[in-house]
Amino acid sequence: MVAGLFFLSVLTALGSMQGALADTPAWLDAAKSPEERAALVLRELTEDEKVTLVFGYFGSNYTAKSFAQMPEARVGSAGYVRGVPRLGIPPLWETDAGLGVATQRETPTYRERTSLPSGLAVAASWNPGLAYSGGAMIGSEARDSGFNVMLAGGLNLMREPRNGRSFEYAGEDPLLAGVMVGEQVRGIQSRHVIATVKHFALNDQETGRMVVSSDIAEDQARMSDLLAFQLAIERGDPGAVMCAYNRVNGAYACENDWLLNRVLKGDWRYRRWVMSDWGAVHSTARAANAGLDQESAAVFDDRPYFGAPLKTALAQGDVSRARLDEMVRRILRSMFAQGLVEHPVAEHPAAIDFAAHAAIAQSAAEEGAVLLKNNGNLLPLTAGAARTIAVIGSYADAGVLSGGGSSQVFPRGGMAVKGLGPQKFPGPIVYFPDSPLDAMRVRLRRVRIMYHDGEDVESAVKLARDSDVVVLFAHQWSAETLDVSATLPDAQDRLIAAVARANPRTIVVLETGGPVLMPWLNEVDAVLEAWYPGTRGGEAIARLLLGEVAPSGRLPVSFPRTLEELPHPALPGAQLPQKQPFSAPYTEGAAVGYKWYDSRQRQPLFPFGHGLTYTRFAYTGLKVASNDGTVTATFDVKNVGAAAGKEVAKVYVGHAGGGWEAPKRLAGWRKIDLKPAGSARVTVNVDPRLLATWSGTAHGWRIAAGSYQIMIGASAQDIRATASVTLQARILPEPPVGP
Ligand code: BGC
Repeated sequence: MVAGLFFLSVLTALGSMQGALADTPAWLDAAKSPEERAALVLRELTEDEKVTLVFGYFGSNYTAKSFAQMPEARVGSAGYVRGVPRLGIPPLWETDAGLGVATQRETPTYRERTSLPSGLAVAASWNPGLAYSGGAMIGSEARDSGFNVMLAGGLNLMREPRNGRSFEYAGEDPLLAGVMVGEQVRGIQSRHVIATVKHFALNDQETGRMVVSSDIAEDQARMSDLLAFQLAIERGDPGAVMCAYNRVNGAYACENDWLLNRVLKGDWRYRRWVMSDWGAVHSTARAANAGLDQESAAVFDDRPYFGAPLKTALAQGDVSRARLDEMVRRILRSMFAQGLVEHPVAEHPAAIDFAAHAAIAQSAAEEGAVLLKNNGNLLPLTAGAARTIAVIGSYADAGVLSGGGSSQVFPRGGMAVKGLGPQKFPGPIVYFPDSPLDAMRVRLRRVRIMYHDGEDVESAVKLARDSDVVVLFAHQWSAETLDVSATLPDAQDRLIAAVARANPRTIVVLETGGPVLMPWLNEVDAVLEAWYPGTRGGEAIARLLLGEVAPSGRLPVSFPRTLEELPHPALPGAQLPQKQPFSAPYTEGAAVGYKWYDSRQRQPLFPFGHGLTYTRFAYTGLKVASNDGTVTATFDVKNVGAAAGKEVAKVYVGHAGGGWEAPKRLAGWRKIDLKPAGSARVTVNVDPRLLATWSGTAHGWRIAAGSYQIMIGASAQDIRATASVTLQARILPEPPVGP
């Protein structure tokens, strides 16, 4: 009976599809496994239909290539793949991306949707639950915008603070990035929308992204970027993986047998499908045989490689029919597993609860902002603390900045500032209409708050001198395709230094995609890193500054003091002509971020994990146990200050025995909310891979016998206690076959 009703509803849902099915076919039985259902459909498909399912179209106009949007695609979207209506297989309607539902540029009207703060901000919350609810929120907007695939789940490690896409990703540590992005993926997919982790792999800079070869030793890749993907995939079971533009050790990521066949599908037993990035395909048989399952938006490639050329390759035997079946099976299996057939999508923007979604975006912005410095407890700014406040710079009277490129979400109410930045992709520069100035004024009615745009330094300095406190907004726009300099643009360093000299009670609020250099740091009293704070960024910033909510973000990346201290003081390839292939030798290997600083015994400007709040925490009672190979750390954290606040208590592991890329690795954390004098017992189980190194000879993770240090603390440079545990040598078992 229940099954009968189910078929009825599926058929009703499919009713609008051309050629609705007369009898209920077996593959529509949701009680069957995705595997079985995919096999049943495969039996029915013609070769043409199979080829259709592995070939993607762009979902928007592309005038440079005389491409007009497919009528069936959602207007101004990233991608479209035809379905097989006669069998009830829906098309794939694909949208970008990680912060919310984006719109492509060549579109008469932008889709106005809710934007989370940047991926780096969400990572800075260290709150997996928030990554999940943010994912569920944007997933539901994707669904109500008519999409069943969200190209979200970006997690390229931040090897390079100048990477223009750092804002889309989740920082420099494989465990943090893997957990946070895995949770985002779970959230999106909870709405029956497929997520795709990207860009696989080692697409860690935008400079030369189409021609660079990211060169790295296998063990080092397995312990860094690849581990981040592996963890996110295990946790989130993303329906797809997007292979990247760049080459890895010489071979393009989308035709890289080692990356796709051997690591992803072989060692990790990944059973979903691999889609290409837009313009990342360079061959037919080579790509298909190396593990690429679907060519996305073929108009971006120099010519289509699947479609007709794939048919020729099949006819000539260059690609086997078994391989084509495998490509299709992977796609179908994902579609069934994520319920795309039972939960068809349609455009229902009216169903979107924008107020509720903005509240989710706001709490993510509040939990992700990081208080970097707070001399003399200048923050929070309480009502009596100042009679006059100068708010300076970065259009703080109008809104908050967002990052550019394919992930750009266009705000409800339109752009707060028009005509900024490049006219074409990755522009324009978009400010969301949520003004921090207004949000402060509403809350501090008795305080005189003056705004200055920061253009004329002299008059800004005068206003600063005449005010009790200055809140200076500084920004750096970053975007896909462009790497940035680590220096704030538009002479903002000069403005900040001059203002701070006039009034040291200056609070700098940074709206940046990633780390920036701060030559003026000693001259200002406070710095709040707000990243790109999303739809409700203005409210979030005001609430943090005024202490309505305590800052609880912690850095997911190290902030450098200078560029010279980085593994690559000059960005690889930056000096070369645009299309000239080059190699980025990742000689730092797995020593990314804090691991690099630790292994060089250097101190960054602000370490990974750093972040202040309006109280302090003590760590006591560390105990470490090892049971059946699982290491567990238990300890107590107590709020020893006068205000309530959240601590992110972290566990690091170290091994003196050699073979490790760095003295310590993040091995776990808990975010806890404590009232004054409140305490919590924290227990963290350590993933054994974090105690191991990748062994090429054993082709697995190897734990060496010996003593390991378990460290607890607030940041990579603030370890509060250390204990030791002795482990036996062992090779870790292979992971189970994916679902
Ligand atoms: C980006 C992807 C994006 C795709 C579709 C590419 O340029 O690298 O992240 O999903 O475009 O817009």
